[in-house]
Amino acid sequence: MLKFDFSFMFEPNVKDGINEEDIARLQPVLSQIVEETAREKPSFVKILFDRNLMESLEDLREWILNFDSLVVIGIGGSSLGTAALASALKPFDWNYLSKAERGGYLRIFFLENVDPDYTASVLDRIDLRTTVFNVVSKSGSTAECLAHYQIIRGLLEIKGLKPSEHIVFTTDPKKGLLRKIAERDKIVALDIPPELGGRFSVLSAVGLFPAMAIGIDVKALVDGAKDAYMKCVVLDVWKNPSAMMTACYYLHKLKGRRITVMMPYSNRLYTLADWFRQLWAESLGKKYSLTGEIVYEGLTPIKALGVVDQHSQLQLYNEGPDDKTITFIEVEKFDREVLIPSIHQDEEIAYLNDKKLSELLKNELLGTERSLAFNGRPSMRIIFPSINAYELGQFFMYYEFTTTLMGKLLKIDPFDQPGVELGKQITYSLMGRKGFEEMKFPEPTKKVVIE
Ligand code: PA5
Repeated sequence: MLKFDFSFMFEPNVKDGINEEDIARLQPVLSQIVEETAREKPSFVKILFDRNLMESLEDLREWILNFDSLVVIGIGGSSLGTAALASALKPFDWNYLSKAERGGYLRIFFLENVDPDYTASVLDRIDLRTTVFNVVSKSGSTAECLAHYQIIRGLLEIKGLKPSEHIVFTTDPKKGLLRKIAERDKIVALDIPPELGGRFSVLSAVGLFPAMAIGIDVKALVDGAKDAYMKCVVLDVWKNPSAMMTACYYLHKLKGRRITVMMPYSNRLYTLADWFRQLWAESLGKKYSLTGEIVYEGLTPIKALGVVDQHSQLQLYNEGPDDKTITFIEVEKFDREVLIPSIHQDEEIAYLNDKKLSELLKNELLGTERSLAFNGRPSMRIIFPSINAYELGQFFMYYEFTTTLMGKLLKIDPFDQPGVELGKQITYSLMGRKGFEEMKFPEPTKKVVIE
């Protein structure tokens, strides 16, 4: 199981940290919202017990393994979790391995951003005849996703390949354009439950179908999330990592620390910080409270990579504004190890001789943690015993649950995203979509441009 070390969130380990009395004061409201959340059973919990989902994945297992490559077409909540899974659980060179070296599983590519240089280079790398495209959009109307869908469908048709044999949709069970096309053109379509928000959907068909295609243990992912859930619903904050994370982030926010830095000391887990960034930003950044007052709530997530960002960000974290908490992600046991040989005996280098790289990495983390504490900057540590599907599943659940609790403490709705929708609608209008011509939005009345 994941472990959590909150020591450096607390006084006296860190000056102006939180203390036992702060937690005691928050305990009644925390127990209440934990209980409430458990009773409501959010859809990201319900999905873990969805037998139909597991059956529909199994139905596709054999067919999908006929292909060589999978291209996931989606953006935001429709791709970030899958990207985090792929980079955490597959080696960096996965796409360069032969199919036999990949154990028969598929290479994976993502078409998220509509950057023509990027899209074209992905299309250069795949052979349409041996590629399956997973088009993921809950709404079925997101411009980036629909643009890429049309591009690949056009290419399939030019090559005389049947779209229904190369495309799988993942979308709302009833509504939206993709569902309509699926029914009309007999394209396989997996369901995203209507009440499940994109950023909470990694353990639905959104993340599990691609995970299965690249050989990730889907059951272990779900089991990890279920086991973490059992801890998330414990009422005593001292025994519930999710309630304690909520308390720490919330209490430090009251002290003006509104920035949440997530800093994995692992390249494989760096993309997990992208997933977290969306979850935290989109769920908690809200203009209105549940009762309609303007509150401009939110905590700003930042991602950093240990140790690389020690040489880029740490100066700011240590000596800049005291407006952050740092969440380190530590890996206890890496899959591989590299030994530093003893070549020179000069004292500037000899201390590294015969040490493992993992030991250097671990001590860099501890050094950073302590330097922050020295400057009165709070941090916590999430410890992965090793990087595997079970631990990843837990991580997703702990943060989805924590985000829900934070939403309740901040009295905002963590499950909507009107700010994102507004951006989408203005894009429709600018791109000339019918029905959006009359949309009003600000244009600069005075241009300030330097060429
Ligand atoms: O979390 C969210 O709801 C959003 O980030 C969506 O996932 C994103 O905008 C993509 O939407 P859709 O899945 O409808 O294409």
